[in-house]
Amino acid sequence: GEKVTEKLVECSDPNRDFPCPPASRVPIVDFTPEARVTRVRRPAHLLDPEYQEKYREAVGKMRALDGSNPLSFAAQAAVHQSYCDGHYRLDPTEKNRPFDVHFSWIFAPWHRMYIYFYERALGQLIGDDTFALPYWNWDAPAGMGIPAIFKQGVSTADNPLYDPYRNMENMDALLDLDYLKKPRRDTIPFEPPTDPAARAKYDDAVQTNLCTIYLQQVRDGKGPRAFLGEKLCSESSFRVKEINERSKRRQADGQSSKVSPSKSQSQGTLERMAHTTVHVWTGRANPATCSAEQGGVVGHDGKPHCQVDMGFLGTAGRDPLFYSHHANVDRMWHIWSTRLGGKGFDDPEWLDTSFVFYDDYRSPRLVRMKFRDVLDATRLGYTYDKESEAALPWLNSKP
Ligand code: C2O
Repeated sequence: GEKVTEKLVECSDPNRDFPCPPASRVPIVDFTPEARVTRVRRPAHLLDPEYQEKYREAVGKMRALDGSNPLSFAAQAAVHQSYCDGHYRLDPTEKNRPFDVHFSWIFAPWHRMYIYFYERALGQLIGDDTFALPYWNWDAPAGMGIPAIFKQGVSTADNPLYDPYRNMENMDALLDLDYLKKPRRDTIPFEPPTDPAARAKYDDAVQTNLCTIYLQQVRDGKGPRAFLGEKLCSESSFRVKEINERSKRRQADGQSSKVSPSKSQSQGTLERMAHTTVHVWTGRANPATCSAEQGGVVGHDGKPHCQVDMGFLGTAGRDPLFYSHHANVDRMWHIWSTRLGGKGFDDPEWLDTSFVFYDDYRSPRLVRMKFRDVLDATRLGYTYDKESEAALPWLNSKP
């Protein structure tokens, strides 16, 4: 990342440890909607071998781009980090108001934009404009574990979708959507067991996960504030940021990162429930059992940690799994706003919020997108496979 840090933009934190997006003199163009849907996103666990190979090849090529290219894998990860580690300020004069794309109504549309450009870059890198980002289908029983394609190999050289900085305890486990509040006592294997007693436990755990998705999507996600989150500048979103900063400081001091329950106040159910739990489950060892020296994994800094890439917003984008995870978060929003009839905010402040992203790795240019541009995925030229939408196993999983 040295090359990148030389020509910095307004990354405000002088102690940053990551490359900021490169400064640019290229003009900004406004986004124009795509004329038709050319990309169908499919579950990562159901890809045929040819598609698996495409995904590996595309991410491999993205990893091989020089870090100074804004569409390189390193730069993409840095984009996410720069928007969530307090590196930008909402107002440069207000030191304690870091800008963040999490914890507010920005979450869903910003991440939709971000993975849209990531997906386009992957397609471009392999010369296939029908390439669509596979999603980690964690809302269906067959997807409630890390998809195999991300785990094959022992290094990113053998498998570009691999990342060594994950919570190894959960690599072959059944997803636990209660992991944040009350982690399961013993790990349940992802493969359905044949022994009847073990099978009953497994079925029960699957059902518990489905109920959580039902609460997120239906019962507790009624209306845009409940589902998408609070307005950015609302009181509660600032409180959240303070609490987060405090928790980060505590972590840096080696104390427990326990934060008050109001942390999630300004988040919608889309962000706060399965999304966050999946991050933590994938990237953090069970705090009850992890001691960094013995149980941790070696992180990017060469030291052992209990909390690695996916488990921390700042580093999450370094794991290719992140993008397939977010494709499913995006799909949950898509299902909410189509099949479940959810409506976004009609506040012009939300609709006209815009961000710029780089497009085209060969000659990077900046594209400005507004939230109103991304409310309908078809205008972004992608959709989700109809098969998985026809059968949503959680839809009737009322607790
Ligand atoms: Cu920007 Cu799942 O986080």
